[in-house]
Amino acid sequence: MLNERSNIVSRTAVVPSNIALIKYWGKRDDQAQWPANDSLSMTLSTACTTTTATIADGVDELHVDGKVVVAGTDHKALNYLGKLRRELGFTAPLAIRSSNSFPADCGIASSASGLAALTTAAIAAWTGASSFSELAAADFGRERLAALARRGSGSACRSLHGGYVLWEAGNAPASQSVSVALDAGVFDLADVIVILSREKKAVPSTVAHRAAWTSPLFAPRLAGLPDRMARLKKALRDQDLTSLGDLIETEALEMHAVMMSATPASTYMLPRTSEFFAWLRTARRRGDFEAYFTLDAGPNPHVLCRPDDAARVAERIRRDFGADDLILDTTGTGPTLHAEPLSSGKLI
Ligand code: PMV
Repeated sequence: MLNERSNIVSRTAVVPSNIALIKYWGKRDDQAQWPANDSLSMTLSTACTTTTATIADGVDELHVDGKVVVAGTDHKALNYLGKLRRELGFTAPLAIRSSNSFPADCGIASSASGLAALTTAAIAAWTGASSFSELAAADFGRERLAALARRGSGSACRSLHGGYVLWEAGNAPASQSVSVALDAGVFDLADVIVILSREKKAVPSTVAHRAAWTSPLFAPRLAGLPDRMARLKKALRDQDLTSLGDLIETEALEMHAVMMSATPASTYMLPRTSEFFAWLRTARRRGDFEAYFTLDAGPNPHVLCRPDDAARVAERIRRDFGADDLILDTTGTGPTLHAEPLSSGKLI
């Protein structure tokens, strides 16, 4: 069993969400959380989860966005916390308070930031670490945190760094790795998140991942991905928005084609989502702005553009497309860890 310091009160992790440019879709091994392909994401800044873990008496307790999750219920985060404790050998129960700066479960990767924040805050509280370097000294470096977080939600492993993050599948579950592909500050982009629906998704991504292999489009997708990944990395290095934009739109549409052609099929897009794609492409062709879409497992597009253009793109989306519910985000520098509760009002 690892050491636990009894004088620890609480630790708070602020962890950003991430938007995949090359998507993780389908797993080679469900149990080992081994993805079918390499993926690459941009870490966000505004869309984040703030999670405080406090050593408590009794049993684990979880509050998400002010609502209590009762112990013993079949809840993703609570189940994951139990597994984490058993695997690492910590005994102290935790009171977890978590809040999202954005609507959860509708395709803005709340599970990515949520599960990465839970992993970081819980292990920091159990070990007493107050910073990422203290976590590393306690044998919980970012690579290990990523390996643990992805058991809760695959995409969570990409939320532990800033900038652009590469999750490589490797040749075996144990040889997966997560690394920084390009630091924040090198090619910063804006992400205008267009919330067309705040409804929770009908099909959890865990269920839909399993069906990917039944799609006739999945094998050709996997065969073509190494080339797309190489071209995306080049576009990032060259700070070439036009090439990057073409690649990410094709990628998002291909993932959704796999989802829709699988058995059972899942359709996350709404009619309004595809209307938006057509509208954005027309505006771009007209020369109104240079911006490109991508889409996770939900109906809400992310629009990537240069930071200087973000306000104009957002204004056009509001005025010409008629969507008001927007989050203006940018490339972020990654998670932070705090020994004291934050006074920003983010905590509950
Ligand atoms: O992390 P999960 O199991 O919720 O899978 C999410 C996968 C996508 O968000 C659709 C793509 C990705 O790579 O983030």
